[in-house]
Amino acid sequence: MSERVVLAYSGGLDTTVAVRWLKQTQDLDVIALLVDVGQGGDTELLRKRAMDAGALDAQVIDAREEYANEYVTKALAANALYQDRYPLVSALSRPLICKHLAEAAHHYNARYVAHGCTGKGNDQVRFEVSLAALSPDLVVLAPCRGWGMTREEAMGYAMQHNLPISMTPASPYSIDENLWGRAIECGVLEDPFIEPPDDIWERTSDPSSAPSEPAYLEIEFRRGLPVALDGEALPFSQLVERVEKLAGSYGYGRIDMIEDRVVGIKSREVYEAPGALALIEAHAELEHLTLERDLLRTKRELERTYANLAYEGLWFSPLREALDAFIQSTEQYVNGTVRVKIESGSVRVVGRRSAASLYEMSLATYDRDDAFDHKAAEGFVKLWGLPLKTWARARRADAASPPGAGSWEGVSEK
Ligand code: ARG
Repeated sequence: MSERVVLAYSGGLDTTVAVRWLKQTQDLDVIALLVDVGQGGDTELLRKRAMDAGALDAQVIDAREEYANEYVTKALAANALYQDRYPLVSALSRPLICKHLAEAAHHYNARYVAHGCTGKGNDQVRFEVSLAALSPDLVVLAPCRGWGMTREEAMGYAMQHNLPISMTPASPYSIDENLWGRAIECGVLEDPFIEPPDDIWERTSDPSSAPSEPAYLEIEFRRGLPVALDGEALPFSQLVERVEKLAGSYGYGRIDMIEDRVVGIKSREVYEAPGALALIEAHAELEHLTLERDLLRTKRELERTYANLAYEGLWFSPLREALDAFIQSTEQYVNGTVRVKIESGSVRVVGRRSAASLYEMSLATYDRDDAFDHKAAEGFVKLWGLPLKTWARARRADAASPPGAGSWEGVSEK
C-alpha cells in the first residue's frame, strides 16, 4: 500500500499537476484538501478536478467563518499592517490552511503533507513553519519547488497526462484572495515603474469614476471589533464585505508597494483591500479616543511586531499568543462609534464618540468652562524641563573651563 500525502489544493495548474506528479513520481496516494477561506470559485468543481487528476480523495473545508472570526478579527484588533501598508491578506490565511492540513493528515493517517508554493515566496515559509509548529512529526513536501517546471512545462505536463485543466492561456497574474483583500502579482507588475493596468482590479473602482456625492458611514465597535454599520448589527464577515463594497466603489483601498519578502528579496506587490484598510483606520482612531496614553503607545509598538510575526510565518508562536492576550486586554476599552467620510479614493475619519472616551471637553476646551488646572501646569512645566535646564547650565560651565587633552575627531561641538 502506498503512503499518503495530504495536499493543500487550490484547483490551479500547479496543484493539479502536483496531484498527478506526487502519485506518479513519489508513489503517494494523494488526498487533496481545498480549504475555502473565501477565495471564491466553484469549490465542488475544483474538488472534482482533483479527483479527475488522480486523487484518492478530495475534500472541501469551508473555513470562511473560522478565518473571519479567529484570524481576521485578531489582525484588525492589532491594526496589523506589514511595512505599514499591507494588511496581511495571504499571510493570515496560511496558518489556518495548515491547521486543517494537519488535522486531515491525522484523520487520513498520512505521514506527508504537501503545498504548491514555489521557492521564492513567503507562502512556503508560512506553510512549513506553521506545520512544524502544529505537528512537528509531519513530513512536508513542496513538489512545485522541487520539480523545476516552468509554467509552460507544467502546462505541457497537464496536457500530456490529460489533466482537467483548461488550456486557455491563464491570466498573467498570480492572484490570492480572501475576505480581507486581494493580492495581485507577476506579469507587467514585475516592473515597479509601470502603473498597474486597469484590468487587474476587481474590488475597487477607478477613483475617478467614484460617485460625486461623498458617503458617510458610522461604524460601531464593541471590545475592539466592529459590530454595526449605521446602527444595523451585522456578523463580522458580512460587515467587512459591506464596508469593502462601499469603500471599494469609491476607489479606495488600492495598495502598490515594494515589499520585503522573508526570503530576502524585494518585490513589487499590488493589493486591493478597501474593507481591511477602512476598518483598521476607524479602529485605530477609536483607540486614540479610548486607550490611555502609555497603553496606546506600547500597543502601537507591539503592532509592528505582530504584523511581522504574521508576515514571517510565525503565527503559531508563543509571542503571537502573548501579544494577543495583551491586545485582548487593551480592547476591553475600545467601545464606541467612528464616523467616516468616503469620497473619491479616500476614507477619512471625521468623527468619533464613546461612552468610554478619555476625551474630556472640560479639560480640552479653550472656553469659559475650562476646568484644566493652569496653575498646576506652571509647576509641571518647570519640573518637566528641569533635566534639560540642568544639562544646559553644566554644558555652559564646561565650555568655559580650559580645554582638556582629549578630543573626538570629526565631532564638531560648538
Ligand atoms: N506578497 C504577499 C504575501 O506574501 C502576497 C502573496 C500572494 N500569494 C500568491 N500565491 N499570489 O503575503
